[in-house]
Amino acid sequence: MRVLVTGGAGFIGSQYVRDVVSGAFPEFAGARVTVLDRLTYAGNLANLDPVEGGFDFVHGDVCDAGLLAEVVPGHDVVVNFAAESHVDRSIASAGEFVRTNVQGVQAIMQACLDAGVPRVVQVSTDEVYGSIDAGSWDESAPLAPRSPYSAAKAGGDMIARAYAVTHGLPVSITRCGNNYGPYQFPEKVVPLFVTNLMDGLTVPLYGDGGNVRDWIHAADHCRGIQVVAERGEPGEVYHIAGTAELTNLELTQRLLDALGAGWDRVERVPDRKGHDRRYSLDDTKLRALGYAPQVAFEDGLAETVQWYADRRDWWEPLKKRAEDAR
Ligand SMILES: NC(=O)c1ccc[n+]([C@@H]2O[C@H](COP(=O)([O-])OP(=O)(O)OC[C@H]3O[C@@H](n4cnc5c(N)ncnc54)[C@H](O)[C@@H]3O)[C@@H](O)[C@H]2O)c1
Repeated sequence: MRVLVTGGAGFIGSQYVRDVVSGAFPEFAGARVTVLDRLTYAGNLANLDPVEGGFDFVHGDVCDAGLLAEVVPGHDVVVNFAAESHVDRSIASAGEFVRTNVQGVQAIMQACLDAGVPRVVQVSTDEVYGSIDAGSWDESAPLAPRSPYSAAKAGGDMIARAYAVTHGLPVSITRCGNNYGPYQFPEKVVPLFVTNLMDGLTVPLYGDGGNVRDWIHAADHCRGIQVVAERGEPGEVYHIAGTAELTNLELTQRLLDALGAGWDRVERVPDRKGHDRRYSLDDTKLRALGYAPQVAFEDGLAETVQWYADRRDWWEPLKKRAEDAR
């Protein structure tokens, strides 16, 4: 069994690679893993240190059709995590998002079709549905993305779907809520707040703090992806819902408590443009395939905070590089 993980040096992709290589998924035991990653600012081979030597690495771009034609053949499963993933960056500059999240998906789907790959998973997000005030989306909800990031992800999903319908490519799509866990680039809210608080800095809270997100540990997200890789129906979409629905105010309170800090450390900043108010997924369809999350939010958050406390060596250089680039 050979598994190609595109974007496998990022936050969630590296969790998946660490899990596959370390044998967390019995069906894929002994699989040979290839990681293809462009190593953008968010890609980091150090995320794969725990399984160093357990995979082949290809440094490259998912938009490079020629490279994909060399790399993809021979793989039994392709899981695509590669993306530009930060909404704020997509508001500042959207071009790279369309390139990687749409054009890159097309290049991957075409290469998988040409190579006859029997199983493809496109990793996507709840953000493609827009914002929902109450209730939860099921997989038949219409796509109504509201940020350049989510619009580009929706475009990639539509391309994947088109390859399934038109060409019969055996691709399934997963859509998940907000992830937290170790190795998350410290621009996203959980590691940004945790590392700022550890450094005695303030944390920026958008708007009224009432935006609601449904949090899931990256390890549970990867468990869901694995169920789809093993048992998902080609052409189908599967939701991987979070385990803790929290307003940003509630999340901030938990992080302040975990770090022993008070609200004097919170700086109110103007709201993100077009900020989606709430996301919520119904994951009944995936649970019917046997999926169940395993990480309770309280435990996962405590473990994550401890990881950032232990791994300054990992995040300090990333924050310094990001500050120098500003
Ligand atoms: N982070 C979340 O909360 C979340 C939630 C739901 C879905 N997702 C989806 O999960 C996937 C992974 O998200 P993440 O948070 O790990 O992102 P990330 O930004 O941490 O990692 C993205 C990875 O893709 C690589 N990459 C970017 N452009 C590339 C290109 N053109 N060619 C090859 N590699 C490229 C980067 O180098 C990096 O390693 C994304 O598709 C994202 O849309 C993320």
